[in-house]
Amino acid sequence: MAEADTSAVSPVLDALINRASMPPRLFSDAAPARADIERMLEAAMSAPDHGAVHPWRFHLIEGEARNKLGDLFAEVLLDRDPFAPTAAIEKAKARPLRAPLIITVCAKVDPSRAPKIPVVEQVVTAAAAMEHLVIAAQAMGYGAIILTGPNAHAGKVRAAFGLDREDELLGFVYIGCADEPAPAKERPNAAEYTSEWNG
Ligand SMILES: Cc1cc2nc3c(=O)[nH]c(=O)nc-3n(C[C@H](O)[C@H](O)[C@H](O)COP(=O)(O)O)c2cc1C
Repeated sequence: MAEADTSAVSPVLDALINRASMPPRLFSDAAPARADIERMLEAAMSAPDHGAVHPWRFHLIEGEARNKLGDLFAEVLLDRDPFAPTAAIEKAKARPLRAPLIITVCAKVDPSRAPKIPVVEQVVTAAAAMEHLVIAAQAMGYGAIILTGPNAHAGKVRAAFGLDREDELLGFVYIGCADEPAPAKERPNAAEYTSEWNG
């Protein structure tokens, strides 16, 4: 078998190996260009997808819509804790304002495709699409971070994104511009998580 020619792939490998999430506090107000958002979404379309189910859904949240998401977060907080202090309610409302763009990524699964394509495989596909999106955003020079928290799994939030019982809200991907690179992190040693399996 011919040896793989790895010389041409270093930019891709660099993007993967050096990927790091951008803390939302570092985002400026500048929004990603529309053409760049379309490229990110195009990158998500090449996620591995058993049976071409296309179980990914992306909801772009920008401008005033971020306040609507904040109001929903505050409502969900009050459902969980009717006596939540005002400061916590205001914090919940302000959460989506930390980035100019949030892309909510959902797994909209088709249970009728199981057992050939189990629901879990469809969720994995949508999660892979989310990671493609994040890597594409970062490769284009944007900062990005996946955030969830209890809001992502609250019934009212799930309903707002049209999710049925077996669907999942996988993450709110916060995307924006930053004046400094994402903080570099020490990564785990892959060898510690790798073994030769011989049966
Ligand atoms: C599905 C998913 C949900 C996440 N939710 C949160 C979250 O709610 N809050 C948080 O601080 N980090 C969350 N993270 C982790 C961050 O996205 C990020 O990976 C973490 O800050 C570590 O930074 P790094 O990506 O540069 O290693 C989540 C990651 C994933 C994959």
